[in-house]
Amino acid sequence: MQHHVSLRHLNTFGLESFAQSFVEVESVEELTEILRNPELKNTPKFILGGGSNILLKQDIDALVIKISIGGIDKIKEDDNHIWLHVGAGEKWHDFVMYCVDNGYAGVENLSLIPGTVGAAPMQNIGAYGVEIKDVVESVETIFYDSKETRIFTNEECNFGYRESIFKHDLKGKCIITGVTFRLNKNPVYHVEYGDIQKTLQDAGVESLSIKAVSDAVIHIRKSKLPDPAEIGNAGSFFKNPEIPEEQFNKLKSDHPTLPGYPASPGFVKVPAGWLIEQTGWKGYRDGAVGVHARQALVLVNYGGGSGAEIKLLSQKIQKSVSEKFGINLSAEVNFI
Ligand code: EPU
Repeated sequence: MQHHVSLRHLNTFGLESFAQSFVEVESVEELTEILRNPELKNTPKFILGGGSNILLKQDIDALVIKISIGGIDKIKEDDNHIWLHVGAGEKWHDFVMYCVDNGYAGVENLSLIPGTVGAAPMQNIGAYGVEIKDVVESVETIFYDSKETRIFTNEECNFGYRESIFKHDLKGKCIITGVTFRLNKNPVYHVEYGDIQKTLQDAGVESLSIKAVSDAVIHIRKSKLPDPAEIGNAGSFFKNPEIPEEQFNKLKSDHPTLPGYPASPGFVKVPAGWLIEQTGWKGYRDGAVGVHARQALVLVNYGGGSGAEIKLLSQKIQKSVSEKFGINLSAEVNFI
C-alpha cells in the first residue's frame, strides 16, 4: 500500500488528484483480503477502474483500490455461442480485440471505448447501435459489508441507457470483479448507425466481417473523438436527453434541423452534441479546458486544467442549453 499517490495518470481527463492511500489488486482473493483486513475496517474505500468516466475535483480521502483483476476464460460453448468470463481489470478494448481476433461477434461496435471491463456494466456502455446489455450474461460482484460474492443475471442488472443497478440501488455497496459475456459464433452485424455504412464503403469492404466492422468503428471514433493519451477527456460528458414527443415537435418547428431518435414510448432522444453546438460552445477554449472542436459532447483538458474548471464549464453549457432549448442536460461522467 502506498500513501499520497497521484492519480493523474490513472484518469483519462489527466486531472491531478491525490489518493490518501492506494493499492492495486490482481485477484478476487487479494481484494477480499483488503476488505476483510480489520485495520482497514473503518477506512473509506474508493474503487478505480480505467478512470475513463470520472471527473476528479479534489483529492480522494480514502483508500483507492485499483482493480487489476485480469483473465479471459472460456466457460462453455455450443454451436452458436461462446461464453467468456473476463476479469474486471482487463482493458475493454483489449477484450474487444480478443473477440475480433477469435471471430466472436457482439462487441465489435464497441471497439476503442476506453476503460475496463469491470466498469463497463456500471453505465451499460454503448456505441453505434450496440450496448453491452446485449452481450452480458452475468456480472460477478463482492459486497463491502458481508464480503460475500454475488452474481447478477443480465435481467437483475436493470440495464438502461447508460444506466444499471450498480449506479443506483447498489451504489457504493459492491465491487464488480468480473463479467461473463455471451458472444455469437454466427455474427449478426449492426451497421445501420451513423457513418458505419459509409465508412465500410469508403474502405472498399464488399463482404462484412467482424474485423471490418471493428475497423470502421475505430476509424470513425479516431476521426471524431480525441485520444485521451493526447488530450484529456472522458468521452461524452453529458447523456443524450430524452424529451417528450410534444416538446420535440414544438422545438422541431422552431429548429427544423434538430435531429431526433426513437426512445422510450412517447419520448424522443436528441443529441446533446447538437444542442451544445447550436449554443455556440463547440471548439470553445478557456485556458486549459474546452469543448472538443469535432464533437461538442466531449469536454477536454488540454493539460494542467482542474476538475473545478471543467465542472464550471459544464455548468455554463447546461445553462445555455436550458435557456435556449428548455432542456436540462445531465452529466454522464461521475463527479468525484
Ligand atoms: N452532433 C452535432 N454536433 C456535434 C456532435 C454531434 O450536431 O458536435 C449531432 C449530429 O446530428 C450527429 C449526432 O449528434 O449525427 C450524433 O452524434 P454521434 O454519432 O457522434 O453520437 P453522440 O450521440 O454524440 C453517442 C454516445 C457515444 C457513442 C456515440 C456513437 C452518448 C452520451 N454518447 O454520442 O458514447 O460513441 O453515440 O454511438 O450516448 C461515451 O458515452 O463516452 C461515448 C463516446
